[in-house]
Amino acid sequence: MKEGMERDKAAVEIGRLRTEIERHNYLYYVRATPEISDYDFDKLLERLIELEREFPDLLTPNSPSQRVGGQITREFPTVLHREPMLSLSNTYSLGDVADFYDRVKKLLYEEGIQKQEMVAELKFDGVAVSLIYRDGLLVQGATRGDGVRGDDITVNLRTIPTIPLRLDASFSRQLQGDDREIEVRGEVFMRREDFENLNEGRPDEDRFANPRNATAGTLKLQDSAEVARRRMTFVAYFLKGIANENIRHLDRLRLLEKLGFYTGGHYLFCSELRDIERFIGDWEKKRHTLPYETDGVVLKLDDVTLWDRLGATSKSPRWAIAYKYPAQQAKTELLGVLFQVGRLGTITPVAELKPVKLAGSTVSRSTLHNFDEIDRLGVRVHDQVVIEKSGEVIPKIIRVALEERSLFTESIVVPERCPSCDTLLVKLEGEVSWYCPNEEECPAQIRGRVLHFASRNAMDIQSLGVALVDQLVGRGLVRDPGDLYTLQVSQLEGLERMGTKSALNLMRALDESRSRSYERLLYALGIRHVGQATARELARAYPRLGLLREADEEELSSVPDIGPVVARSIIDYFLKPSTQVLVRKLQEAGLPFRAAEPQELVNRNFEGMTVVFTGELERYGRSKASGLVMARGGKVVNSVSRNTTLVVTGKDAGSKLEKALKLGVRVVSEEEFASML
Ligand code: IVH
Repeated sequence: MKEGMERDKAAVEIGRLRTEIERHNYLYYVRATPEISDYDFDKLLERLIELEREFPDLLTPNSPSQRVGGQITREFPTVLHREPMLSLSNTYSLGDVADFYDRVKKLLYEEGIQKQEMVAELKFDGVAVSLIYRDGLLVQGATRGDGVRGDDITVNLRTIPTIPLRLDASFSRQLQGDDREIEVRGEVFMRREDFENLNEGRPDEDRFANPRNATAGTLKLQDSAEVARRRMTFVAYFLKGIANENIRHLDRLRLLEKLGFYTGGHYLFCSELRDIERFIGDWEKKRHTLPYETDGVVLKLDDVTLWDRLGATSKSPRWAIAYKYPAQQAKTELLGVLFQVGRLGTITPVAELKPVKLAGSTVSRSTLHNFDEIDRLGVRVHDQVVIEKSGEVIPKIIRVALEERSLFTESIVVPERCPSCDTLLVKLEGEVSWYCPNEEECPAQIRGRVLHFASRNAMDIQSLGVALVDQLVGRGLVRDPGDLYTLQVSQLEGLERMGTKSALNLMRALDESRSRSYERLLYALGIRHVGQATARELARAYPRLGLLREADEEELSSVPDIGPVVARSIIDYFLKPSTQVLVRKLQEAGLPFRAAEPQELVNRNFEGMTVVFTGELERYGRSKASGLVMARGGKVVNSVSRNTTLVVTGKDAGSKLEKALKLGVRVVSEEEFASML
């Protein structure tokens, strides 16, 4: 134990740092008005982590240092809600809203009340959770479950930046009732951008259909560090357990904001039905400009003392209702159907549509998912079809406008053979999809595997685009990603739109890909069901490829978030002769077959950062510098974009520097970079 004096001093500093860090966190995530740079923020956090490491007894679960997660939960305990978490009844028309309004009016009248004041809020499309704060500290967070009992997912919820771990003391003191416990309910959701980033790193077969599914799946993960990486948002819409139970709902929303919660800020006090209708009308179009999905409006009686008096039916309260916007639809002609062959051989029918505007973008394609879907819809070529964009990102065909069917429609001919290699298609038992079984030779599958290998989150071989891969595969120069590393400049020069310069660029890009991490390589292999997150877990559990190849099903299933299906898929993958050939080629090419040295001694200063190097680095050299960033949790890419966090400039930095300055990306010298390490 350190000397008492020193410990006391540390305790004071830790307290100060925590308050400071949470304040900046709030300014950044809730107010979107940061006062300090990410770098300075990281410095504060780093100092806190250092002190907590030195005085482990001062570490508490509510320290902002714990937001990065790390805890593995095998099973979430069940908790009983203080009060049932009800859901809302839905309405779909303004007429229904008016009916609800009249119904409430009558109920109020029976209670002898004339004034009917309501609050209109947006309906967030996510997952409802309940948070319990005791003495201002977050002590429990749970899912809705069946409304009576939910799962205790506190560890996962702690990672969400808009969930305060401690409430703003000056306000919380006035709030607490006798039991000093308050409950906040709200919705956890994923912003569209965060959702797209997440899906990008997942294998096609495991992509989430919409942000809501992604949120629900993420909240149940066992590995809280992965939850932290996936970036979710919490919005608060309900507060209970405060000293003065008479405070009305509108003021509670404002109180929530003062306590440090994010409410979205878009709500309206309505003293008449007209105000409600206006709010619904205003947000019908405007909601598409928000960075997250909303599917409607929620109306609540403002006077909370009436909530109990009006009561609830078995499922939903009588004092509130949800209005759901109709999904955006458009009608257009189905011009034809294309059959795409994925890298795993799955055949996906894709509808080619006459271009039409829908929810702010022009749609000319839409997936039909599988052949059963074609049957279910009963759709024919040249039919008029109704397409819809709801929570889904990609629009889908929901029905055929049969009343408009002409004499000239044609049935969709489902191929018997693979459109790429002409092999007879097969259907696996219990699955709806057809597959091309010609895994080894089918050009479309080879092309898909090579493109996946080279993709941004995998080996990030930037100069390897679709057109080039098509040529390489088409001419038989590349049969698997391993062949990329034995390509000769002379072979490349002969290709269309390929000069010596582009050929050399590709060679350089391939060379750089050798210094990517082992974890990326595992993802790049394209094993069915192994996305970035799973690859990360695998790399941690099996720091050498040799170990992974030898793992059995039972052992694999004990890795966090890996179930029997994924385990089986990994084993099947390594049993294939073609895998053995590929692995040998990749090994000969010098790709990373083991994890970097244990990283305990290294900090995570570059966590979440995307770094670009430009110019000649005198102190480290490119590949050493890249390695240093990656070992500290960062990502290194070749070109500057809005997603870049940092540009490190060496001697004679050129166009990348210019672009960084134009985009307002942070630029540092090599010395500054060294000090950041
Ligand atoms: S209030 C008893 N307000 O919609 C009323 N719910 O369909 C409790 N939701 O379970 C809910 N935005 O998950 C409320 N502004 C909002 C909401 C909202 C989304 C969700 C919530 C609820 C579901 C009901």
